[in-house]
Amino acid sequence: MKLTIVGTGYVGLVSGVSFAELGNDVVCVDKDERKIEQLKKGISPIYEEGLEPLLEKNIHNGKIHFNTDLGESASDSDIIMIAVGTPQADDGSADLSFVWAVAEELGDVLPSDKRTVVVNKSTVPIGTAEEVESIIREKNSRVDVAVCSVPEFLREGSAVKDTFKPDRIIIGTNVSWAKERLIQLHAPLADAEQIITTSPHSAEMIKYASNAFLATKISFVNEIANICEAYGANIDEVVQGVGADRRISPHFLNAGLGYGGSCFPKDVQALIALAKDKDYEANLLRSTTTINATQRLKPVEILRQRFPEGLGDVKVAVLGLAFKPGTDDMRYAPSIDIIHELVKAGADVHAHDPIVLDDAAPLLPRAVSLHENIEQALADADAMVLVTEWDAYKQYPAADVSSAMTGKIVVDGRNALDANMFKEQGFDYYGIGRR
Ligand code: UDX
Repeated sequence: MKLTIVGTGYVGLVSGVSFAELGNDVVCVDKDERKIEQLKKGISPIYEEGLEPLLEKNIHNGKIHFNTDLGESASDSDIIMIAVGTPQADDGSADLSFVWAVAEELGDVLPSDKRTVVVNKSTVPIGTAEEVESIIREKNSRVDVAVCSVPEFLREGSAVKDTFKPDRIIIGTNVSWAKERLIQLHAPLADAEQIITTSPHSAEMIKYASNAFLATKISFVNEIANICEAYGANIDEVVQGVGADRRISPHFLNAGLGYGGSCFPKDVQALIALAKDKDYEANLLRSTTTINATQRLKPVEILRQRFPEGLGDVKVAVLGLAFKPGTDDMRYAPSIDIIHELVKAGADVHAHDPIVLDDAAPLLPRAVSLHENIEQALADADAMVLVTEWDAYKQYPAADVSSAMTGKIVVDGRNALDANMFKEQGFDYYGIGRR
């Protein structure tokens, strides 16, 4: 099939490369000329395991092309996917201006003599597919188009794997020819029973509800971890016991510093705002966000208790800046809030991350020192805080941490380190939900 994908962010680029790999003819469109020039050379603007080799291969095979102009390929495409950003507006709702702009443009360029499926892949409020279709039809009343919702569930860091091995594919449309075309496109990716067809409204809600559920699961386990600490129970044991119940499942029950990234924080806020628009107060989701905001500052709270005289001149090594391992994404990363709080309290902060350093700098206070190797960040530190559980930190020997640092305090914000190893080295080890 001939596909045009608008937007070369995570969702657009990974989808484009994956559909090209499946044999489709793909054109990825983006307004950002520099990005398109880089992509033509096979250079990915994002760090994502396995993406660049597939990109290069499909450029070489002529299955994927890049363009700044939507019109050229749109009129000839079987399916056009909208995968542009939907950033958070000031009131927490999703800012849809990029989606509306694409809809306007499609109204100008879609042909009247050919059936085109337009797919919304961006995470958008309920009713957006309908709205996009009316914008297109207002511009061209004779257009033969069906606007559908096919939300994307990929995770950063495992985006390529998730695309080729999805748990399910949601196809939201009430138009039978569009449904058939989309089932045909997705068939190589999943078994028939994994393809769920719904109305566009339900598909849009499924995306928000899935992310809100996972975010709530994380805040839930963090709350249980905090109660565990107060009573001396151990969260690892508790989660093992709780997660063995198949109705609960052990996944997404890792206690830590809460969630960050480009999806959970924004989507939970957007769902709260959508509910409020209809006069419904989403109290559970509000608690999810409140717990998450407090949880990320736990390392600061622990250090304040350890240094009751204040953090002035206390040297703190912060390991990990990206919001999670395997990505260079700093969006809503806990490290930003933690470092700002520490610096405000007067601490001398030395941070390290295996891949994000230059991009992180503008988001952090100027007083923080960024280091390219772990030893430098740890040198003479009074305390170490692990914020992102990169393998490099998990594998770093406790004995080496001990010889680099002056102090003996380690705060493991992701319960990723071997507590006993650190205790053997004489450290005071603080995990989350592990007293
Ligand atoms: C998420 C969804 O998983 C994905 O389906 C959706 O399409 C986009 O949002 P992503 O943001 O890439 O993906 O990361 P994910 O691996 O889901 O982690 C999100 C956050 O939750 C991270 O900050 C992670 O550290 C945190 N997390 C995850 C926990 O704190 N505990 C857990 O048990 C799992």
